Formats: sequence, C-alpha cells, structure tokens
Amino acid sequence: LQLGGPNWNVKLGRRDARTASRSAANNGIPPPTSNLNALTSRFGALGLSTKDLVALSGSHTIGQARCTSFRARIYNETNLDASFARTRQGNCPRASGSGDNNLAPLDLQTPTNFDNNYFKNVVNQRGLLHSDQQLFLSGGSTNSFVSTYANNPQTFNSDFVSAMIKMGDISPLTGSKGEIRKNCRRIN
Ligand code: HEM
Ligand SMILES: *[C@@H]1O[C@H](CO)[C@@H](O)[C@H](O)[C@H]1NC(C)=O
Repeated sequence: LQLGGPNWNVKLGRRDARTASRSAANNGIPPPTSNLNALTSRFGALGLSTKDLVALSGSHTIGQARCTSFRARIYNETNLDASFARTRQGNCPRASGSGDNNLAPLDLQTPTNFDNNYFKNVVNQRGLLHSDQQLFLSGGSTNSFVSTYANNPQTFNSDFVSAMIKMGDISPLTGSKGEIRKNCRRIN
C-alpha cells in the first residue's frame, strides 16, 4: 500500500488486546457530530493537545465516509461550500434509508494520497464531516493550526508523526494483559 506521507519508527513491544469490541470502540472515540469543545476535551482526556487533535485529523487526507456520517452536514449546515455540498448530495440522498452506506472521499482532491490537501479543503469549507469543519470556524481557536498545515506540508508531517507516537503510547496494557503480537495485523 503506497499512500505517500511521513515515516517513523514504531515502538516495539506494546501489548495489544486479543479481542475487539465495536461498542467499546464507538464509546471510546468521539462521534463526527462533535463540536470543537467536545473534540478538544475528548482528546485532552487522553493527554492529546489541541495541536495533536488537528494534526491527527489530517489523517482524513485518505479514506472514505458513509453518507450517514455526513448527511446532516451537507443538507443542513451553512459553513460549507455550496458546490461541494451539491456534489456530495449527488450520491447521498436526503432521506435516511437507501443510500446510507454510499461512500464519499474524506479528501475531495487527492483521496488516495497522504498529503495536506485535507487542510486546504477545510480552509475552503469543504470539510466532509461536521467534526472536520469544526477545526476551522469563523474566529475558531484551532484555525491557526489548520492554516499552518494547509500552507506548510513539512510542519504537518512532523506534527503528525509526533502526535501518532503520542497516540501509540496511550494507556498500554501491562503485566499479563493482552499480548505482544508477532504480526501487528492479527492476534498471535
Ligand atoms: C477528531 C476526531 C475524529 C472523528 C470524529 C472521526 C470520524 C470519522 C468518521 C465518521 C469516519 C467515516 C466512518 C464511516 O462513515 O463509516 C472516519 C474515517 C476515517 N478516519 Fe476518522 N475521525 C477522527 C479522528 C481520526 C484519527 C485520529 C485518525 C487516525 C490518525 C482517523 C483516521 C480515519 C481514517 C483513515 C478514515 C477512513 C477509513 C476508511 O476509509 O475505511 N480519524 N473518521
Ligand atoms: C435538517 O434539520 C431539520 C431540522 O432540525 C431536521 O428535521 C432534518 O432531519 C435535518 N435533515 C438532515 C438531512 O439531517
């Protein structure tokens, strides 16, 4: 898988869980309907700064989201580019039900490249998720981070790496809990 973007040495020896829980995951991460205050406090509770929040959100330079994750934004919000809204409405019907799982790229411009276009989109009110656009609001407290990353890909890359390493250090399992995986993609 070649996406571009920065590299770093991943620390070895972290103990991973042997099971996964969808509901625990959904309770542990903020929903895309979150406002900036909620995002900041959820990240802060894990020791991640506001800068980390913005840098890590830059991961939405790749990947896709389902219509259900952004429907309310493209039909009801005003802080988004009108032509971008129309484009996304084309494959995400207003009524819930059919089309809920239709996909759209999180990064309008280069959805399979890891670059800083996500931040350029957000500056131009083309954030797909409500939570994406929260990072750049009229007079918003995180606007300066977004602008810096939109203008300076090197700064984004280095802040992203620092934040990924910090995220990888969050409350590891200890003692005999979990296991150190032989292959990081699967349990031993
Ligand atoms: C700031 C809080 C965040 C929120 C509210 C959020 C929310 C979401 C949502 C709703 C989706 C689409 C899921 C779907 O529609 O099924 C998504 C996709 C994605 N997110 Fe986030 N996310 C956040 C932070 C992050 C972080 C920190 C990373 C990694 C560093 C990340 C990486 C991704 C990736 C790669 C995808 C695409 C997945 C795919 O295409 O299969 N996100 N996110
Ligand atoms: C838009 O907002 C109205 C009023 O709150 C709500 O009834 C409607 O379901 C929303 N539409 C979408 C697509 O979220």
